Amino acid sequence: METTPYFLDCDTGIDDSLAIAYLVASPGVDLVGVGAVSGNLAAAGGARNTSDLLNLLGRPDVPVAVGAHDFLSHAFDGGAPHVHGRNGIGEVELAASPTPLREESAAEMLVRLAREHEGRLRVLAIGPFTNLALALRLEPDLPRLVRDVTVMGGTAMAPGNVSPVAEANVANDPEAAAEVFAAAWDVTMVGLDVTMQHRFEERHREALLAAGTPAGTALARMLEYYFAFYAPIFGRPSAALHDPLAVAVAVGGVTLTSAPRVPVVVDATDGPGRGQTIADLRALYTDFAEERRGGSRVVLAIEEDFGDVLLERLLTL
Ligand code: RIB
Ligand code: CA
Repeated sequence: METTPYFLDCDTGIDDSLAIAYLVASPGVDLVGVGAVSGNLAAAGGARNTSDLLNLLGRPDVPVAVGAHDFLSHAFDGGAPHVHGRNGIGEVELAASPTPLREESAAEMLVRLAREHEGRLRVLAIGPFTNLALALRLEPDLPRLVRDVTVMGGTAMAPGNVSPVAEANVANDPEAAAEVFAAAWDVTMVGLDVTMQHRFEERHREALLAAGTPAGTALARMLEYYFAFYAPIFGRPSAALHDPLAVAVAVGGVTLTSAPRVPVVVDATDGPGRGQTIADLRALYTDFAEERRGGSRVVLAIEEDFGDVLLERLLTL
């Protein structure tokens, strides 16, 4: 089967773990490298989680690089232990991978892979965009070298999740996000508009647990922690599927029903709008008949119930 090379940048993270499992379970995906960035936890811890999870998933061969600890304009502030646990994966302990982390940085790895797979590499970013911005600074020709970029981040019309208008990955490093959205590459934004609408419920978690596989069991235990965070928000134990949905939009498994291509800019000022992704959706008034040239593809809706799609794919592991 023909495969496509993918580079993933992440802050693993419970929903990042689901995204990594989805990638590993997806046919045609050649995961050629993974970078870690600070976000849910420090980059070094996220890299260890990523490496240990890949080992559990039977992919200790996938190279993992540590990326930026601090953001472009400010220091990492401790992450989100109340959402993902102190170790980032809901206090679940994974066996240590025998594979050492790479010596190159995540940004260096991305640039190297983009050159090696010129015009073919697909980039996925499911944490703050610091490593991508650093890679753009290292190699200004990066937008030409990669095929496209899909990010979990931002929100076009829905409320934010860390401020009234800002989503966490963008809010953590708005300067980096501004550079990524401004670069001349093909960006798909999978933001809170769609990720908050697709959830894992207790029935999904129980089915994963019942599968009895090492990966299924570990993910189901992580989800207990994630569900507890979301329970007061959604009124029952369940969780939004941010990162795996972004990965599925890129690698396949879902059908986009609304995904206009429009200009997106990031507010990197110090006012109350800091971290907002401002998507120019005025074309909505004309049914997107006059889609702007260029801009980013902003995913607003998909056809499937993504919880069911995710479960089905995870059960193949
Ligand atoms: O806002 C959701 C995003 O923030 C996800 O990537 C999640 O892992 C957290 O980092
Ligand atoms: Ca993430």
